[in-house]
Amino acid sequence: MNFELTEEHQMIQKAARDFAQNECLPGVIERDEQQKFPKEQIRKLAELGFMGMMVSPAYGGGGMDTISYVLAMEEISKIDASVSVCMSVNNSLICWGIEAFGTEEQKQKYLTHLSRGLKNDELYIGAFLLSEPGAGSDATSQQTTAQDMGDYYLLNGTKNWITNGSTASVYLVMAQTHPEQKSHGINTLIVEKGWPGVTIGTKENKMGIRGSDTTSIMFTDVKVPKENRVGEDGFGFRFAMKTLAGGRIGIASQALGIAIGAFELALKYAKERKAFGTEIMHHQAIQFKLADMATKIEAARLLCLKAAWEKDQKQDYTYASSMAKVYSSETAMWTAIEAVQIHGGYGFVKEYHVERLMRDAKITQIYEGTSEVQRIVISRTLLQ
Ligand code: CAA
Repeated sequence: MNFELTEEHQMIQKAARDFAQNECLPGVIERDEQQKFPKEQIRKLAELGFMGMMVSPAYGGGGMDTISYVLAMEEISKIDASVSVCMSVNNSLICWGIEAFGTEEQKQKYLTHLSRGLKNDELYIGAFLLSEPGAGSDATSQQTTAQDMGDYYLLNGTKNWITNGSTASVYLVMAQTHPEQKSHGINTLIVEKGWPGVTIGTKENKMGIRGSDTTSIMFTDVKVPKENRVGEDGFGFRFAMKTLAGGRIGIASQALGIAIGAFELALKYAKERKAFGTEIMHHQAIQFKLADMATKIEAARLLCLKAAWEKDQKQDYTYASSMAKVYSSETAMWTAIEAVQIHGGYGFVKEYHVERLMRDAKITQIYEGTSEVQRIVISRTLLQ
């Protein structure tokens, strides 16, 4: 067993670290305060080739492995999780989903641009539309309908909590075609933003990842050509579950990055801040917190890399990705809270960054399946 990163992995890690320091750190507090979508950052990320890192070069992607993706997500999330969630959705839910299950025509028409994050020099990214007002964790209860009209589907319904909601050009929409067949009646359709009947809701005013663009999207009698269905009739729910298994590696890595970001700030502060006649790092109460943070982060990192490795080895990574997601997100939340505590009053103000990391950490326990959903997935495998 070899725990060392290859030279190529180290290069990708460094490129992501430099990008985060040089492009994401400046203005991160203002973007959070003003809920400003990091458009220039995403554009530069696209130019770096990070919006479709794992897509085959034949479809315009970087041809990198999942380990590289984990490393890049970790580095960017240390600084700005609003940038990394946009990157994660495009990479693992949109590009991977179309590459794994789309037709050659869909790949040529959509993936070749989505993998670059650009089309005609404009930002071109995707959004994953599964959640609804009444279907979050309970994702089989889709109320959005895709009525089979012969050579097209008629799409009606409302989707909620959509990352990249107003920025995305292309949506992967899960909708019910055969309600009597429940999860086996759901289809995934590729829908373009500009089509008649598509309405984008207002941006949500969120606790964390405030720069990221989260909206609802409504569909009223949208005509979707049959050739835009991904996979066979009724494959939509399995498509969503298989795609989310990879997406959870991305969110686990995002959580890992947030945890490391908070830990590094707390460590630096503990070395500088004096109280009771010495730097606070000399107090055992602080040392124990730092030791626990470092230990949990190391465990989370190993879980993320293990899940990525299993995906790269073409093994079933569903169990590993849910473990990585639940553990990393809980580590991010706990570590960020402790990092604020170590900073004392300074942790409660924006200039020190840890309060933002604490707010950003929370969503990693909720999106792409709550911690409770991950435990359902893990225990189902155990009880098989
Ligand atoms: N691969 C293939 N098939 C799968 C599967 C998988 N990974 N997981 C489930 N299925 C199949 C099941 O085998 C089952 O088929 P059968 O009926 O033939 O047995 C069918 O799908 C239905 O599955 P379940 O019975 O397991 O469904 P359930 O209602 O019990 O739900 C669940 C299971 C795990 C809770 C699931 O609904 C779930 O993952 N919910 C969370 C949804 C989620 O993650 N939402 C995130 C939204 S996207 C997002 O957040 C992106 C973003 O913008 C950041």
